[in-house]
Amino acid sequence: MSIDEKSNSELIGRDELNDIEAILAITNTDVDEVEHIVKNNADSIFTWDYTLARPALRKLYEKAKTGQWNGATDLEWDTDVDVEKSVFEDSQILGSGMEQALYADTSLGKWGDKEWLEFGIEGRKWQLSQFLHGEQGALICTAKITETVPWYDAKLYASTQVVDEARHVEVFARYLEEKMGGGYQVNTHLRLLLDDIINDSRWDMTYLGMQIMVEGLALAAFGFLHATTNEPLLKKLLRYVMSDEARHVAFGVLSLQEVYKEMSDKEMKDRQEFAYEASVRMRDRFLQQEVWDRMGVNTKEIAPAMLQDPSRQLFQQMLFSKIVPNCKKLGLLDRNDKWLRHKFEEMGVIQFEDWQDTGEEFTEFELGKEMPALGQQ
Ligand SMILES: [Fe+2]
Ligand SMILES: [Fe+2]
Repeated sequence: MSIDEKSNSELIGRDELNDIEAILAITNTDVDEVEHIVKNNADSIFTWDYTLARPALRKLYEKAKTGQWNGATDLEWDTDVDVEKSVFEDSQILGSGMEQALYADTSLGKWGDKEWLEFGIEGRKWQLSQFLHGEQGALICTAKITETVPWYDAKLYASTQVVDEARHVEVFARYLEEKMGGGYQVNTHLRLLLDDIINDSRWDMTYLGMQIMVEGLALAAFGFLHATTNEPLLKKLLRYVMSDEARHVAFGVLSLQEVYKEMSDKEMKDRQEFAYEASVRMRDRFLQQEVWDRMGVNTKEIAPAMLQDPSRQLFQQMLFSKIVPNCKKLGLLDRNDKWLRHKFEEMGVIQFEDWQDTGEEFTEFELGKEMPALGQQ
């Protein structure tokens, strides 16, 4: 039986993955918005079966109880953070994240050190802000999973993740406010993805969207920033957050493995499409449109060069280093004639398929242990 093949425009709203006009057409039209309402269409499920049915999830629950930390007292908030100095020092090692020569014919061609530094500072504010908004998405999604997952062991675990996410929102919000002088609104591509995840009535989709896609990307991004920044407070904050995130991604992998084993091709196809749409939305936000707006640069002018920029491509690809192996472990890559594999090939991220998945990896991220080196994580 063949399953309907959807076109790219049905899936992601455009035919060409790199259609810059279409990507930039999605922008935040209400930057002063303080409240955003999303319809949560799911059923809340009670279970009266309190027996231990899933020991792996219960083990994770025990780990979560002993892995708790306090965002107010475990981090040295009196650290004096010199943002300019710290971004400058980090850029001495990493560069600006862009091949500056590629932009010689654009308005960036006139930029001096001062402008590139300012761009570095805005870029960091923007990145930490998107982490913050994603963390709030995780807070809401795990509260939803606690209600909607039918399994007792999973409800127990999910409740601990709610507390973890509250702490993550707390520390990122505080860092941005106290140390960076405020941040950015949510990027619209990210917000649309969070909306889609919360909107979906199927409980396993919350896991796929949040634990596998959003948190998979976050774990890679936190790892990269943790390994490359010299700012001690931020480094420690990320280290602590990562010790929780690794458990969260494991929670997703363990739970979905069981559900996906039983699914039909058609059901799996829906999940593959959802994973693809989420991947594209996450990739689209990396044009950092809001930063360019603030810097007075027209994103359209520089976007073609950004899409070709090898430094940026490398960074973007690295962000999929957790997502792809986890999708493989869940059987999402190769079902339905390798549908998702082909999509990840088009996106240039398939090379991560045999990197370590996150099913058991969380033990390596526990506090007090040496962090695994980048690339082995
Ligand atoms: Fe988190
Ligand atoms: Fe998380």
